[in-house]
Amino acid sequence: MSETAAPALDLLEFRKVGKSFSSGRARTQALGSISFGVKPGEFVSVVGPSGCGKSTLLNLAAGLMRPSAGEVHYGGEAIKDINQRVGYITQRDNLLPWANVYDNIALGLKIRKMPQPAQRQLVEEFIDMVGLRHFERHYPSELSGGMRKRVALARTLIYSPEMVLMDEPFSALDAHVKLVMQSELLRIWEAHRKTILFITHDLTEAIMLSDRVIILSARPAQIKLIVEIDLPRPRDAFALQTNPDFIGLFSTLWNTLKSDLQLDVMGTR
Ligand SMILES: Nc1ncnc2c1ncn2[C@@H]1O[C@H](COP(=O)(O)OP(=O)(O)OP(=O)(O)O)[C@@H](O)[C@H]1O
Ligand SMILES: [Mg+2]
Repeated sequence: MSETAAPALDLLEFRKVGKSFSSGRARTQALGSISFGVKPGEFVSVVGPSGCGKSTLLNLAAGLMRPSAGEVHYGGEAIKDINQRVGYITQRDNLLPWANVYDNIALGLKIRKMPQPAQRQLVEEFIDMVGLRHFERHYPSELSGGMRKRVALARTLIYSPEMVLMDEPFSALDAHVKLVMQSELLRIWEAHRKTILFITHDLTEAIMLSDRVIILSARPAQIKLIVEIDLPRPRDAFALQTNPDFIGLFSTLWNTLKSDLQLDVMGTR
């Protein structure tokens, strides 16, 4: 008797989700009607022009706002409150200004009452991972934008949430630090297979990291294309850029994205 495993259910699912905002008399429709799911252990990236509603998607998944149309489901249920099962690395880092790097990174472990010795060991490990050794006692106001991003990344990854929402986490980093951080994220993800929904402007980054890339149109966002990234893992962030399959995927995605980016640059929306 042959048994076929049932396909995994989506951990996060957007069902015909629309979202508009009112500000005085002006009404902005950010999301048109968006439907896609993210399965447990999947790494999905969303790419789209500025202002098309990417951060809004993550805010909905985190339960910080409700859709104007459709439903957002997590673990099979509609999200009705703050979604405690996800870690959220927001576009603007929200580090505690009165806490130093060490305490900001340790925050999630303290809340979860992890014993001190284990806490210390893990925080030290993550400080090294994000390259902030010797900055442990610095406060957020004493850090560069890229360093703050790295603290925010460590602070969320350290407590290992079931799903991580990441909003352009590497955008403020210089090119070299970015490559190192992308490699680190690949390494962590390939070892732990967390479910990740990742927002980026950077197609190279999206292809390098993801199982699937979703391209959104300009506002009101609709899905223009979903591409499976079947490049073998483990992936090497440095080597991939000269891989012919990678280059083929890049040109497919770029050809879809570019018409909306031109609208974006010309400010016609
Ligand atoms: N809380 C809010 N109140 C009013 N309008 C909002 C709110 N949040 C987002 N918007 C509007 O919704 C649209 C989409 O915003 P969002 O931040 O989701 O875009 P984005 O794709 O993340 O852009 P970027 O790439 O620049 O970060 C924008 O026009 C923005 O002004
Ligand atoms: Mg955004």
